[in-house]
Amino acid sequence: FSGVARIPCVVHVVWKTPAQNISQAQIDSQLDVLNHDFRATNADLGIVPAPFGGLVADARIEFFLATEDPNGNPTSGITRTQTTRTSFGTDDGVKSSASGGIDPWPTDRYLNIWVCQLGGGLLGYAQFPGGPAETDGVVVLHSGFGTNGTAAAPFNLGRTTTHEIGHYLNLFHIWGDDGTGCSGTDEVADTPNQGGPNFGVPTFPKLSCSNGPNGDLFVNYMDYTDDRGMVMFTHDQVARMEACLDTVRGSLPV
Ligand code: ARG
Ligand code: ZN
Ligand code: CA
Repeated sequence: FSGVARIPCVVHVVWKTPAQNISQAQIDSQLDVLNHDFRATNADLGIVPAPFGGLVADARIEFFLATEDPNGNPTSGITRTQTTRTSFGTDDGVKSSASGGIDPWPTDRYLNIWVCQLGGGLLGYAQFPGGPAETDGVVVLHSGFGTNGTAAAPFNLGRTTTHEIGHYLNLFHIWGDDGTGCSGTDEVADTPNQGGPNFGVPTFPKLSCSNGPNGDLFVNYMDYTDDRGMVMFTHDQVARMEACLDTVRGSLPV
């Protein structure tokens, strides 16, 4: 695509307790975060250490709640489903009505975002491009979604959804998913080689894999820091997401 890709989203709220049936305001707050993070207009970009400043990139992707449902009727872009399930896991159960969740809307036309209770400390998970249509999309813990309502620190700035959509658009974890080793790669040229995930909010410089003097790009959305510590994509990460939207997910942008 050239210019800005606009992606229609449907948010599937799957709830057992009334609190899990998150508000419209909480959903809107998440869309706001996405539309800043993927345009590099987020207010907290200033925490990027100066030596990394040139890596910050505008992904030129915008997100909106769908206004037309799969049958062509007007919609809020939000579905609400009551479930008897206390929590869901990474087995895609939330993505099917047969297992207490709700089926996706056509995954070639909508980014499906399920929001629910997750077990085991899981914040979210995503399906990479090229997987089965029945389970395509991202899943996010309700208390890691948006910036108000049930959103809880330190995951209350909407960055879990930014991170999961990064995966959905073909980004790997910045440390290369090889544990703490130095041989894994995220297939992105302009990110420093990094040993393992970073947590909390590290102090610059955080060295690993002989990547001094500047060290790990721990302010990246594809690391594992707290929400307030992840604030940017790089140019080459943007190129990967753009390639995905030009090919495998080419039917998505409107
Ligand atoms: N654990 C999740 C994943 O690997 C998401 C981590 C998001 N981190 C955050 N600070 N919000 O996909
Ligand atoms: Zn991840
Ligand atoms: Ca590594």
